[in-house]
Amino acid sequence: MSAALILDHISHSVLEAGAEKRTLAMLNRRFEPGVLNVVGGPSGAGKTTLLSILSLTVQATQGMILFGETNLTALKPAATKEWRRRHIGMVFQTSRLVNLMSVREHILLSARIRGSGAAISEGLKRLKDFGLGDKLDARPGQLSGGEKQRVALAQALSFDPPVLLADEPTAALDQQNAELVAQSLRAYAREKQAVVICVSHDRALFDAADDILKLEKA
Ligand SMILES: Nc1ncnc2c1ncn2[C@@H]1O[C@H](COP(=O)(O)OP(=O)(O)OP(=O)(O)O)[C@@H](O)[C@H]1O
Ligand SMILES: [Mg+2]
Repeated sequence: MSAALILDHISHSVLEAGAEKRTLAMLNRRFEPGVLNVVGGPSGAGKTTLLSILSLTVQATQGMILFGETNLTALKPAATKEWRRRHIGMVFQTSRLVNLMSVREHILLSARIRGSGAAISEGLKRLKDFGLGDKLDARPGQLSGGEKQRVALAQALSFDPPVLLADEPTAALDQQNAELVAQSLRAYAREKQAVVICVSHDRALFDAADDILKLEKA
């Protein structure tokens, strides 16, 4: 699974009131596997937009994305969806947990979607590592913001994705938990030779980073 994720002349714009608005300035970048990549920059610089493009959920206006030798931008819609399901673990900026489901059920559901039985024990182990072993029966409404973030991260890491994309995964965490998550992400990149890309404003993540990209407003 050790291929680089490569952006080749990627940019993104939207139409706003009939005029083109740049949401991500032109970007050329190689995100290497096995290291912790951290993306920073001011609010509105396009960090979430970049992750949406890398996760193939938003199409770039221009440019190409490669994973090793594979041109991801050339995939047909069904192949894109399948590639995403097999390769991408995602932690969103705001919680996308389902209120009716317990923490344990979140792990079971994602293991099922990804078709990985091993993801159940791996996800439960991650929850324990993140100090949430006693929250398996809790529902998201009974969790703090920081606990929800760690559930989402355990879910994303559980099926060993070759690419992990995390949008401000430590934003709701105290310093000690932020450092624990930063070290877990760095260790994950090394152990699995995965491409790990985190958007953050957090000192703990920048301190743990091997490679830093600072985006500017387009
Ligand atoms: N679908 C959209 N339609 C119009 N404008 C958009 C859309 N998505 C993003 N934008 C704009 O694109 C710019 C980049 O947004 P983005 O969410 O990527 O920023 P960000 O760097 O993640 O900011 P933050 O640190 O606040 O999360 C912003 O000016 C935002 O308003
Ligand atoms: Mg954002």
